Amino acid sequence: MTRARIAILCVLLSACSRPSTETHRAAPPSPTIGYGTAMADVARRFELLGRAASGGRFELAEYQLGEIEEQFTETLPRAAPPREGHPEVLPAMASAFAQTTVTDLRRAIAARDRARFNAAFERAATACNGCHQASGHGFIEVPMTPGRAIPNVDALPSVSP
Ligand code: HEC
Repeated sequence: MTRARIAILCVLLSACSRPSTETHRAAPPSPTIGYGTAMADVARRFELLGRAASGGRFELAEYQLGEIEEQFTETLPRAAPPREGHPEVLPAMASAFAQTTVTDLRRAIAARDRARFNAAFERAATACNGCHQASGHGFIEVPMTPGRAIPNVDALPSVSP
């Protein structure tokens, strides 16, 4: 083999054995979502869940509940907790909500019964408010009946119209 041929062979071999930077690159870290951003999504979906079930749109209500469950089991455990208040209560209360309250709502939606649904909605809103109060966010008030804006922004009795 001539020296030129050896040189060409070496170039070819090194090109083939070069580690691919594309396949070995680590996945970029996913950006951390804030607790409040995830909660705004929970609130919108909980409001829709209530309005959908009141209108007999139970499949839509079930879908919204599934998305809320995902927020509690996947997003919120990794979300950046607020700095103010009592963030230490959040992990246990979020997991209790996912287990107890989501299950309660799912059964009530499956029953296709308005009165039963309204009772479960009220228990869920109470659980939402319980965590807001315990974590130092009691001013974020979730109404007890379906169909109202979440959070409650109605004028307080002390405010004259
Ligand atoms: C595990 C505790 C916990 C539960 C359960 C919970 N929340 Fe929250 N929520 C929080 C905390 C903490 C904040 C404040 C987040 C922040 O300041 O970053 C918040 C904020 C909010 C906000 C304000 C979001 C914004 O920034 O605009 C709304 C609305 C809300 N929650 C609705 C709900 C509803 C509806 C439910 C029940 C279906 C619920 N939350 C259940 C802890 C909870």
